[in-house]
Amino acid sequence: GAAVEADISALQPGEMMTVEWRGKPVWIIKRTPEQLAALPKIEGELADPKSERKQAELTPEYCRNGNRSIKPDVMVAVGICTHLGCSPSSKFQAGAQPSLPDNWPGGFLCPCHGSTFDMAGRVFKNKPAPDNLEIPPHMYLSDTKLLIG
Ligand code: FES
Repeated sequence: GAAVEADISALQPGEMMTVEWRGKPVWIIKRTPEQLAALPKIEGELADPKSERKQAELTPEYCRNGNRSIKPDVMVAVGICTHLGCSPSSKFQAGAQPSLPDNWPGGFLCPCHGSTFDMAGRVFKNKPAPDNLEIPPHMYLSDTKLLIG
């Protein structure tokens, strides 16, 4: 499929945008310093914190790092649950979903069967989704222009 360009120059910390690539929603999120700082702290709660599973399909080599990203603050991920393909909702903050535990550090919640993902698209333990969210192939054409695909 054709690659898609995304201009992220207007994206502010804590904001997300969605572009369509190969019929899939791709999320681009500018993480806040707090969200970034939380990533290493919650590794014990995650099923695959180092994104070691299905690396070839899910995590491009240049994103095999603690943030799962090229630029530390910018997350790029396919917004499709790795369980049965629902679209998780983008609830950045704990408390946005009343049914979530108070200590949930935010991220994404799949409404179909309750899988939760952190701000790097990593799935929490003991959830139906087996894997972290897919990171699509992508590169920066400039500081604020992404090419996805
Ligand atoms: Fe997301 Fe089942 S499809 S938890």
